[in-house]
Amino acid sequence: MNTTRRTLIASAVALAAFASPLVHAQAAPKLKVGLMLPYTGTFAALGTAIENGFRLHVAEQGGKLGGREVEFFKVDDESDPSKATDNVNKLIKRDAVDVLIGSVHSGVAMGMAKVAKDTGTLLIVPNAGADAVTGPMCAPNIFRSSFSNWQPGYAMGEVMAKKGHKKVVTITWKYAAGDESVRGFKEAFQKAGGEVIKELNLPFPGVEFQALLTEIAAAKPDAVYTFFAGGGAVKFVKDYAGAGLKKSIPLYGAGFLTDGTLDAQGADADGLLTTLHYADSLATPRDSSFRLAYAKAYKLQPDVYAVQGYDAAQMLAVGLAAVKGDVGKKAEFAAAVEKAKIDSPRGAFTVSKAHNPVQDIYLRQVVGKENKTIGVASKALTDPARGCKM
Ligand code: PHB
Repeated sequence: MNTTRRTLIASAVALAAFASPLVHAQAAPKLKVGLMLPYTGTFAALGTAIENGFRLHVAEQGGKLGGREVEFFKVDDESDPSKATDNVNKLIKRDAVDVLIGSVHSGVAMGMAKVAKDTGTLLIVPNAGADAVTGPMCAPNIFRSSFSNWQPGYAMGEVMAKKGHKKVVTITWKYAAGDESVRGFKEAFQKAGGEVIKELNLPFPGVEFQALLTEIAAAKPDAVYTFFAGGGAVKFVKDYAGAGLKKSIPLYGAGFLTDGTLDAQGADADGLLTTLHYADSLATPRDSSFRLAYAKAYKLQPDVYAVQGYDAAQMLAVGLAAVKGDVGKKAEFAAAVEKAKIDSPRGAFTVSKAHNPVQDIYLRQVVGKENKTIGVASKALTDPARGCKM
């Protein structure tokens, strides 16, 4: 085609567009969603499940939230807190995202929350439990669709005390999530008269457990409480059984220990009791339809991370619907999410004043490839949000 002809056609198209009432109404600009998640390392599978869940809800809304077509921007944060500020600035400055979704690791999420607070960018945390995010760092533009580290730990403190355990050893990674999970556990366990006789740690994301398992065997506690997740949780559960401890010293944990990990843990996880805001056998109509849709879309079973990603999208949808897609209307956005009931597969939840889910914490037991619900360990558990002034 020669140049004249091409120019003529281009002019004709432009004219038609100008004249057509159909294209007159400007489409709303795309909603830029920045996913800052781990796609490598010990939490890689968690990042993928969160993204899958988020995308599933968006797809169910026809690809739009608040009337705007959703466009994704992604950064692999490598669960590395030292890179968090640079990574979040890539999304804010380079990609000019409207909303940040992230992350899994508590240290990374605190880095994100600081930037979100300073810049006023909307942030929804789809996993990381850092107590500070809905504590001292709380802000009108910061929300969490998951949990605080305190929540599953506190619920398990009550469960283990009720089981009659008196002397417990804790073991976890030395970073915010491990420390806070153990602190929540201790708060409830000690209140009920229990004693923590030893607190064992190793650096994140280390998996050299042998020397620590020897210490557990020597300490002879009634039971062990632990926080591990992802690839590290797989290895810990296998090593605990491999060291012969599973038969003699019952192992308990925050439910991340056995969530999204059961295929890899196999029989070594069988029978373990954990506390979490989700389980595989809730069998409510809401959860069943979610699980079916997720399995169909991804040829995978969903886990707690998939649910949290899905619910981050649901919270965003609720807020955006109230402001008709205008993320600049921050007070109205926050007000809408604050009064919403989020129709989660885990069971409907509301958010606290600090923007953390108020939710039931289930007691679950591993049976085969499932975290079966045994009951509710703690009903409508609210994080104390210590230090949040909002
Ligand atoms: C966290 O760092 O807050 C964290 C990471 C993985 C989990 C749960 C919490 O599964």
